Amino acid sequence: MKNIRNFCIIAHIDHGKSTLADRLLEFTSTVAKRDMQAQLLDNMDLERERGITIKSHAIQMQYPYKGEIYTLNLIDTPGHVDFSYEVSRSIAACEGALLIVDASQGIEAQTISNLYLAIGADLEIIPVLNKIDLPHAMPEEVTDEIVDLIGCEPGDILHASGKTGIGIEAILNAICDRIPAPKGDPEAPLQALIFDSVFNSYRGIEVLFRIKNGTMRKGDKVKFMATGKEYGADEIGILGLNQEPRQEMGAGNVGYLISGIKEAREVKVGDTITHVNRPTAEAIQGFADVKPMVFAGIYPVETTEYEELRSSMEKLQLNDASLVWEPETSVALGFGFRCGFLGMLHMEIVQERLEREFNMTVITTVPSVQFHAIGTKDQLLTINAPSEMPEPNLIKLIEEPFIKAQIITASEYVGPIITLCMDKRGIIKGQSYLTSERVEMTFELPLSEIVFDFFDKLKTISRGYASLDYELIGFREADMVKLDVMLNGEKVDALSAIVHRSKSYEWGKRLCEKLRELLPRQMFDIAIQASIGQKIIARETVKALRKNVIAKCYGGDISRKRKLLEKQKEGKKRMRSVGSVEIPQEAFLAVLKID
Ligand code: GTP
Repeated sequence: MKNIRNFCIIAHIDHGKSTLADRLLEFTSTVAKRDMQAQLLDNMDLERERGITIKSHAIQMQYPYKGEIYTLNLIDTPGHVDFSYEVSRSIAACEGALLIVDASQGIEAQTISNLYLAIGADLEIIPVLNKIDLPHAMPEEVTDEIVDLIGCEPGDILHASGKTGIGIEAILNAICDRIPAPKGDPEAPLQALIFDSVFNSYRGIEVLFRIKNGTMRKGDKVKFMATGKEYGADEIGILGLNQEPRQEMGAGNVGYLISGIKEAREVKVGDTITHVNRPTAEAIQGFADVKPMVFAGIYPVETTEYEELRSSMEKLQLNDASLVWEPETSVALGFGFRCGFLGMLHMEIVQERLEREFNMTVITTVPSVQFHAIGTKDQLLTINAPSEMPEPNLIKLIEEPFIKAQIITASEYVGPIITLCMDKRGIIKGQSYLTSERVEMTFELPLSEIVFDFFDKLKTISRGYASLDYELIGFREADMVKLDVMLNGEKVDALSAIVHRSKSYEWGKRLCEKLRELLPRQMFDIAIQASIGQKIIARETVKALRKNVIAKCYGGDISRKRKLLEKQKEGKKRMRSVGSVEIPQEAFLAVLKID
């Protein structure tokens, strides 16, 4: 155990974690040269296509150093704020962290937030100045920033390039020298923390764990403490490039367990595994609950696929512990699920994963944050969907979630960023210079104003030179109203939204205009109306199609006609009929494009 090192790689998005991990795997010959491909650990198609890490990935390396063999368990983590729950869980499996900072960018918002997560878990931090091959790298300035941030000596900071391979050996040596070996007693009763899991339709659910105390052997009878269920440890092993079975694994190690579990709900990330015969007295403290930032409904396009969607959501949740959901019914859409996400990117990824990995076609409804209402009897009501908003005469007041936002940017963009935040009902709380050109600003802002498109706006006005991190700080009273949408006189609950009164008229007008663009024309006029209570505040019409589109093709080219029909079929994919009107997926997300 004294030669085991468990560490994660943390950084702001795009500072080069995955590329650096590739070099470590190459240098330790964990992956043969011919099997090497860029960002090897980002093995989901979605990650490769988008060039971002969504999931944490664990892999074990062997490294000879000072005449001994070290076992290094590496966990690569995502950088995007929507996936910070992945980071916090990975950190729980480690004693140390490589903190990667791009030498051409300097410290960014998630450098700081991920560092705080690591320090909070008492990890040994090894700062690495990465991308030093870049001609516009600023090693001296960024070194100063890092020294200021973590209070280390300039000499503690390693210089590296994941691209050219500079500094890789020094990083591996530092991991062995500076990160402590795991503590724990291999003879004690078994205590292993489940930090992730994967659904595999052939082998059953694979559980990833880190052993804190005790030893797990193949064939052992084990128990999951939260559910009380017992299983045989049919196969255990380490996570190399592929899974590598082992006969036994001791305290401090990271690995996988397969025991033929088919039911997703039996596995809970954060649960403790122990032995049936000699159980531990206490479970390891699990993970803090996730705090979803955005809520939206997910509905099957085919109403008959509701049960299948439920089972797919359960399986997806195994691999995405930050997804929360419960059943919901909509008058317009029928049976579905109300889901909580950590942000819009997370919501998009969940929808895509349901489609790709589970072959479901789903509609996500208008996203919303959570509101609180205080009832006339002072009772607290949580509102996760506009349909849950009580009538105004039944409540005293409404509260909306507020966040504290940290924005790091170049000094020339300070003015425009303040203007943007003011427009979003924000309050500036502080401003400090990291260097003569870089500023860290703190704002308090309503979550509903920033969760949808704020980041895009911030990027635009700062030409990409701004990073953002935020955390919830509580609820504050706000004058919110429910805005309903009617199509041909019929209220479509899945299109309702809760908006600030001061912006509601403008909002209703824009929403109707957007819907007019997005709703496909049909054989009849479609009246779009927005209302607050009984009052109609905006109206638009989608004009009827003049002619039958297929009529044009009669007598014409048969293949052209078929193509047209196929096109229409494809267009149906993410579309739901509500009454007589067909609503495409984009219409539910129209609220995101309102200003
Ligand atoms: P996320 O996981 O999405 O947070 O990103 P990441 O931190 O893993 O970054 P990634 O390794 O995907 O690298 C981001 C970009 O920087 C890619 O285009 C890399 O090719 C490039 N890059 C990474 N390391 C270096 C380096 O040392 N030098 C140079 N010049 N480019 C690098």
